[in-house]
Amino acid sequence: MTEHSADLRETVRQRYAATAIQVTQGGSACCGPQAIEIDENFGSTLYAATERDELPAEAVAASLGCGNPTAVADLHEGERVVDLGSGGGIDVLLSARRVGPTGKAYGLDMTEEMLALALANAKKVGATNVEFLKGTIEAIPLPANTIDVVISNCVINLSTDKPAVFAETFRILVPGGRIGVSDVVADDGLTPEQRAERGDYVGCIAGALSFTEYREGLEAAGFINVEITPSHQVADGMHSAIVRATKPTADLEQTLAADNEPSASVCCGVSACGTPAEQAVNPTTTIADAKTASGCGCQN
Ligand SMILES: C[S@@+](CC[C@H](N)C(=O)[O-])C[C@H]1O[C@@H](n2cnc3c(N)ncnc32)[C@H](O)[C@@H]1O
Repeated sequence: MTEHSADLRETVRQRYAATAIQVTQGGSACCGPQAIEIDENFGSTLYAATERDELPAEAVAASLGCGNPTAVADLHEGERVVDLGSGGGIDVLLSARRVGPTGKAYGLDMTEEMLALALANAKKVGATNVEFLKGTIEAIPLPANTIDVVISNCVINLSTDKPAVFAETFRILVPGGRIGVSDVVADDGLTPEQRAERGDYVGCIAGALSFTEYREGLEAAGFINVEITPSHQVADGMHSAIVRATKPTADLEQTLAADNEPSASVCCGVSACGTPAEQAVNPTTTIADAKTASGCGCQN
């Protein structure tokens, strides 16, 4: 990690530590263009009143998101869910209700003060199927292939290494697992400088990816069925959006990998690999030489 990235992450941590303390002392908070100020585009107003009523006042007051990922993740009884950047725990507690006693909801956050607030909130509702982990979303402290659903609410834009977040999310999901994320996304035409003019990094604006960058980042990590749907504008040309994607099933992963390998019918510069009919495309080359030179995996 560069010194600049480390400084930026520390600035983010300090900002959210201060926010957690503010909420713990009876205030409220919001992620948005204006630091620590209520903005209708962010926070608990994005949840249904019935959902807010299920939770302790402090969990609602600590809501800093730009959407409601639990509303789109379509959680089922028994599923294992992780919330990246869980803050005061609002989405973990809602998820815990959805997945029930046979499921599990993890919250991951790097800020001690937020984790303390989330734990206190979980205690208030008597949630037994939740666990809060300290760590970063760029190095998720969970084993590979163990999670059914990854949610996140207005956090990925704060990461200084988004490819690592996408790769880690892919790693922990089971094949066929899915993501349901709310995040700030910029119009494709906006340069990084133009995004920064619209709001600061810790306020969830300047670090936002564009629609194309988000899609390409997820696809580069291996995700399929990527859908990014804007829900409301949070600044000029910048939107809160719902991001959905899936990790291919094991069968599909094999098919995709096979599709990326050279086709047997043309591999190794021969017309038909491994059959009596095969012949080198270049008649001065022997079949064995063509296969060896190509290194594409045909049998000699
Ligand atoms: C905008 S708040 C959102 C909190 C919560 N998702 C919600 O909806 O209320 C961002 C949270 O992400 C955490 N965070 C930011 N960057 C992080 C990182 N790289 N790794 C882990 N947590 C991070 C912060 O500590 C903070 O609690």
